[in-house]
Amino acid sequence: MAKRTAKRASAKRPPAAGTPARRDGLGPKIVVAPPGPKSKAALARKEKFVSNGLKVGLPIDLVRGDGPFVTDADGNVYVDLGGGIGVHTAGHRPASVIEAAKAQLDRLTHICYMVSTYGPYTDLAERFAQIAPAGLTKSLFVNSGSEAVENAVKVARAYTKRAKILSFRTAFHGRTLLGISLTGKEKPYKEGFGPFVREVILADYPYTYRDPQGRRAAEVAKARIEEIERLITAPDAAGFVAAIIAEPVQGEGGFIVPPKEFFPLLRKLCDAHGILLIDDEVQAGMGRTGTMWAIEHWKTTPDVLVSGKAVAGGLPFGGVTGKPEVMDAPQPGGLGGTFGGNPVVCAAALEAIDVIQAAIPKVARVEALLAKRLVEIGSTHPRVGEVRGIGAMWALEFVKDRRTKEPDPELARAVQLAGLSKGLMLLTAGFYGNCVRLLPPINIPLPLMETALDLLEDALEAALSGKAS
Ligand SMILES: Cc1ncc(COP(=O)(O)O)c(C=O)c1O
Repeated sequence: MAKRTAKRASAKRPPAAGTPARRDGLGPKIVVAPPGPKSKAALARKEKFVSNGLKVGLPIDLVRGDGPFVTDADGNVYVDLGGGIGVHTAGHRPASVIEAAKAQLDRLTHICYMVSTYGPYTDLAERFAQIAPAGLTKSLFVNSGSEAVENAVKVARAYTKRAKILSFRTAFHGRTLLGISLTGKEKPYKEGFGPFVREVILADYPYTYRDPQGRRAAEVAKARIEEIERLITAPDAAGFVAAIIAEPVQGEGGFIVPPKEFFPLLRKLCDAHGILLIDDEVQAGMGRTGTMWAIEHWKTTPDVLVSGKAVAGGLPFGGVTGKPEVMDAPQPGGLGGTFGGNPVVCAAALEAIDVIQAAIPKVARVEALLAKRLVEIGSTHPRVGEVRGIGAMWALEFVKDRRTKEPDPELARAVQLAGLSKGLMLLTAGFYGNCVRLLPPINIPLPLMETALDLLEDALEAALSGKAS
């Protein structure tokens, strides 16, 4: 058996597949090794009728979600540490969110805000003006994070009358052609889909762990800012950059937490060159990091904030919120869409924001537990290159060798699959695909989080010993 952390060694070993693993009566329950027969049948149908371009990460078919748990078609219950990619920040189906959506379904499902106004949209816009960073008081609602990114860029171009956008190589801003133009990662996002939006400049994010010169965080931040300044003042860009779009903590890139100096310096740089700062909070925002918006940690106010994922508690949402003069720059009729800001989605969002806001004080305890246990796990497993995170957003970056830092995406995948057999839904991430990321509900009971972390360590040990599933 692999060497165990001190705390883990004293804990009761969670049982193998077939029995529930619980510290205090709460936990996953595996009744048949996943994928069970019903999940297998569902996946066979997927192969037949759904595009191969849509890759399914976990070989199970889900039938319900309750708070921190999901249940598959074969009756297995998992702790959901992915939240449908960062959506279920307050767990699956918070009661008040479901009630509000149901009540709205009984009143008005759709009319389109370009046809006539309706209360939930305007109420949500007013709510955003209260919760957004100071001065960002006008909003536009759309159907996804990608669509919100598209509109943020349109607004920034209309306001600055400039075309170029600076983004980051390890960023992710969605799957539309502009979204994939804003990232550097070829596989699987860009390969075969070009040509891309050509007015995009890609720079390096301050990814301290992989700084080629091994510098300290503050130095990495300074070096990256100097490089960005060089890019935006070069003859092919000077005076043409409308906006810099940045995630306050990179999500798909592998939960890269920037040095605290980075965003204040970026803000300064934007101001010096008349460039807008677009803050993409689709993954890190809405309470996930312990503040409403992750950029609050960096004491920086953006010009435009992009939101999505968690905002409507499980319904499809994208938001663009900005300074009024910026949001009003496009000509009337220049923005819109049939379903954006749908009444049911907005009614759900108004409740989900309240539920998340009330749960934010709980994040500090989840963060302390995650940090402590993951650092313990990292310190006893040399294939964990780095443990990093903030709030309820943590990742393990796996490497083949701590010295060379060669990425190990196969190990991340093996941990993910071993986790599934033990009752955990885990997601991978990372520019190199070599991270396992944890996005638990911020209101997860701490004993359940402890159980899940024990199982994660078991999954890592199983993956390392080649017994991943
Ligand atoms: C930071 C960020 N921006 C934008 C998006 C795109 O959002 P959506 O998948 O809702 O289009 C994502 C999705 O993961 C994201 O993480």
